[in-house]
Amino acid sequence: MILPIVAYGTPVLKKRAVDVELDDPDLNALIANMWETMYAASGVGLAAPQVGLSLRLFVVDASPFAEDDDLEEHERAQLKDFKQVFINPVIEEESGEAWAFTEGCLSIPDIREDVSRQEHLTIRYTTETGAIKTERYSGLAARVIQHEYDHIEGVLFTDKLSPLKKRLIKGKLTNISKGKIAVDYKMKFPLQSKKR
Ligand code: NI
Repeated sequence: MILPIVAYGTPVLKKRAVDVELDDPDLNALIANMWETMYAASGVGLAAPQVGLSLRLFVVDASPFAEDDDLEEHERAQLKDFKQVFINPVIEEESGEAWAFTEGCLSIPDIREDVSRQEHLTIRYTTETGAIKTERYSGLAARVIQHEYDHIEGVLFTDKLSPLKKRLIKGKLTNISKGKIAVDYKMKFPLQSKKR
């Protein structure tokens, strides 16, 4: 089932999410719905708060990035197979130099800005079958995880922009909250007027 993606300004996007109960009987259905919702919106990642649930859970399929011509071979290999559900993840460390890349977000359509993030990370998480894994990611794969992880911490990529940039996009963000934006996937806008 495709779920509506909540837009910028929805309070759940600013909340630190809580751990998923692993024996929740609805968990598998939620994960299936999140995949369906993410693919319907052509996203590479989706976090539970984006479908209105304050839970520490996100899904990532970064394989579209593997088509990028500028990648080194080892990076392409990692991205091609990178499809994963992260339940109750913990980023244990981040390292390497900060690098900038243009990010977007399904909750903030039509805004794309450069965000600086560290190059490497180690993450511990539970898989959908209940296994606990610790893995190391770099480059774009790490970046998608950092972006989604921010979502479960109540942080959006626009929070990381300079005060000047924030001021420049303020009007656009307000319009997104009001639903004054054309999107080709299902969304829910916090400030949309009920009158049609
Ligand atoms: Ni996002």
